Amino acid sequence: MAEYAIEIDHLTKKFGDFTAVNDISLKIEKGEIFGLLGPNGAGKSTTINMLLGLIEPTSGTIIVEGKDIRKKLNEIKQDIGLVMQETIVEPELTAEQNLRLFGRLYHMSEEEIEKKIPFLLELAGLTEFRHAYAGTFSGGMKRRLETVKSLIHDPKILVLDEPTTGLDIQNRTKVWDLIRKINKEKEVTVLMTTQYLEEADEMCNRIAIIDHGKIVALGTPTELKHKIGKNVVVEVATSRQWLDKVAEILKKITGEKVTTSGDRASIAISGDAVKKTEQIMNELSRNKIPINGISMHEPTLDDVFLKLTGTSLRDTASQEGFASRREMLMRRR
Ligand SMILES: Nc1ncnc2c1ncn2[C@@H]1O[C@H](COP(=O)(O)OP(=O)(O)O)[C@@H](O)[C@H]1O
Ligand SMILES: [Mg+2]
Repeated sequence: MAEYAIEIDHLTKKFGDFTAVNDISLKIEKGEIFGLLGPNGAGKSTTINMLLGLIEPTSGTIIVEGKDIRKKLNEIKQDIGLVMQETIVEPELTAEQNLRLFGRLYHMSEEEIEKKIPFLLELAGLTEFRHAYAGTFSGGMKRRLETVKSLIHDPKILVLDEPTTGLDIQNRTKVWDLIRKINKEKEVTVLMTTQYLEEADEMCNRIAIIDHGKIVALGTPTELKHKIGKNVVVEVATSRQWLDKVAEILKKITGEKVTTSGDRASIAISGDAVKKTEQIMNELSRNKIPINGISMHEPTLDDVFLKLTGTSLRDTASQEGFASRREMLMRRR
C-alpha cells in the first residue's frame, strides 16, 4: 500500500523559455482535501494536467498511489477522476446519457454503468433531472454532473480544477457539499485548485499557496494564518492620492511593515490592537485625511498571500470572478 495518494517531487514545466511550474514538491495524504491556491496564471492547471499525463513534465517526478506516471500512466488514469476547469458535459445529451457515455470511455460494461447511474445522480442531487438535457442545466448543476461523472470508474483520487469559478454563492455551496460528501462517504482523496481564499479556507485541510509557478507556503489554514506572526490586521481604505500618507502614519504608529493594495493600506500588529487602532484614527483625523473605512480583523489567507507575494489575491483574481470576490470580501469581515 502506498503511503501517500500523490507525491510530487521537484516538478518543473517550461513552455519554451517560460517556466509555468517551478520546482514544486508536495505530498498529498490519503483522505485529505488538499487545495492548490493561487491567482490566474499561477500554474495550477499546468500542475494538474501533468498528473494525468495531459502535459509532459520538463523535469521532476510524480508518483500516484505508489506508481510513477512515466511508467504506469494507464493504471494511474484508473486511480484519478478529473474535473477540468472548463465544463465539458454534452448539452445535447441527458444527465444519464452523459454518465453512460463517460462510463463507456472507461470501457465499463453496460451492466456496471446502469448500476452506477442512479447512485451518481443521487449523489449530485440530480435524480429528478435524469432525463433532462444537460444543456438546460444551470452552471451549478452542470458542475455537479461533471463532478459525479468523473467518479464513474470509482477512482481513489478526485482532482478538481477550479470547481466553483464563475458560480454564484448558492451553487458554490452545493458544489462544496458534494465534494465534502465524496471525500467523507466515499473516502476519496481530493486535490482541488482555487483562486478563492475563502474556498480554500473553508474546504481544505491543507493548502499550498502557489504564485508564479512556485509554492510560497504550505500548511493547514490555521498554520498559514499564524505565519503572519501577529494577531490582528488593521486595514484602512482611503483614496489613492492619500494612500502614501496613510501608509506613513500606520508605519509611524506601529513600527510595522505596511502593505498597500488598490486603495487600501494594511498592517499586521500584535499587542493592544484596539489602542493602536485608536491612535491611528486620531492621527488620521489630526492630519485631515479622508478615509472610507477602517477595520480590524484576524489575519486571513489574503493577508498571508499579501505578505508572501507582495500582491493581494483579491486584486489578481480574474475579472470573471469579480462578483464572487466581492461577496467573499463582504463575508470575510
Ligand atoms: N501550452 C502553453 N504554452 C505556453 N504557455 C502556457 C501554456 N499553458 C499555460 N501556459 C502559461 O503558464 C502559466 C500558468 O498557466 P496555468 O497553469 O493555466 O495557470 P492557472 O491554472 O494557475 O491559472 C500562464 O502564464 C500560462 O499563460
Ligand atoms: Mg487554471
